[in-house]
Amino acid sequence: MAAGGKKLRNRMADDAMISTMKTDMGGSGSWESGYALITGASSGIGEAFARALARRGQALILSARSEEKLHSLATELRQGGCEVEVCAADLAHADGAFSLRRRVEEKGWGVSLLINNAGFGSGGDFASLALEDELAMIQLNISSLVELTHWQLQRLRANGGNGQGAGRSGGSQPRGAIINVASVAGFQPVPYMATYASTKAFVLNFSWALWRENRDEGVHVMALCPGTTRTNFFQRAGIQERHFFSLTPEAVVDLCLRGLKRQQPVVITGWANRLSVASQRLARRNWVVNAAAGFVREATLDKTAGVK
Ligand SMILES: NC(=O)c1ccc[n+]([C@@H]2O[C@H](COP(=O)([O-])OP(=O)(O)OC[C@H]3O[C@@H](n4cnc5c(N)ncnc54)[C@H](OP(=O)(O)O)[C@@H]3O)[C@@H](O)[C@H]2O)c1
Repeated sequence: MAAGGKKLRNRMADDAMISTMKTDMGGSGSWESGYALITGASSGIGEAFARALARRGQALILSARSEEKLHSLATELRQGGCEVEVCAADLAHADGAFSLRRRVEEKGWGVSLLINNAGFGSGGDFASLALEDELAMIQLNISSLVELTHWQLQRLRANGGNGQGAGRSGGSQPRGAIINVASVAGFQPVPYMATYASTKAFVLNFSWALWRENRDEGVHVMALCPGTTRTNFFQRAGIQERHFFSLTPEAVVDLCLRGLKRQQPVVITGWANRLSVASQRLARRNWVVNAAAGFVREATLDKTAGVK
């Protein structure tokens, strides 16, 4: 506890120092005018964000653990004329987000779009899953996301959240934006993916609340809620991928960026996922939880993990 308090105080002292440093956000512009910092950019949805934003000419900071993959993606995107920086970080580590934001500050890279995309899930009976993996998931999917969001909101608002209502529909484009990648799993409890779905419920509600808090500050916060998307996610989670109604990461990103342009607080990707979320609201909660239990248990690859 005492060590934790000291660590926090040291971080706050570092924050105070950092906040006096010059940043290059500029006095005007929109979320497209500075860097887009993308976590989890080495594969899947994060990589698709990097490619889509590079095509639009936005400068990028790519982050994930796999530094080699990030460098090879950066090299490819630079050939298309895009300005790309690489900043590897392990965000499942308690100091990961701090080390990432400190490096970004030290370089003076002004971030106008933060995409908190890095995340993973695990499938199986909670009591049989490795606790350290579940805690690492909470660190990555929640704590690091909260830390980066807090840092970025303070920076964007200090750089002149304009208080003119940018962010309301019909207003001008916000000067900064934060996309937090949640999931349709965040709309309900999901047995055999209990921790994962709960982290995404947090991300969804947290982002939606911050959308309202920042609506008049010129900063748009949104939650992206993909359904099944064809990435490495399922393999990593130990869950068999279902291809019904699944989307490519490129399609997910395209829908998200359209939603960002319209300043939507929440984007649920695809009509089948929107229908599923809407119907869950009408059905009895226990029925929804039981149905999810059957579906996910069936898809869990490690049948030895105490799944009954
Ligand atoms: N695929 C789906 O069906 C689906 C549905 C809903 C929501 N999502 C969400 O979408 C987001 C992206 O996942 P994806 O589907 O694109 O899966 P993915 O291909 O497995 O990508 C996950 C990304 O997160 C990074 N990452 C994992 N652990 C990390 C760590 N400890 N520190 C930093 N970065 C880490 C990975 O890079 P490194 O391994 O190089 O670190 C990778 O770039 C996740 O938040 C996921 O929960 C996915």
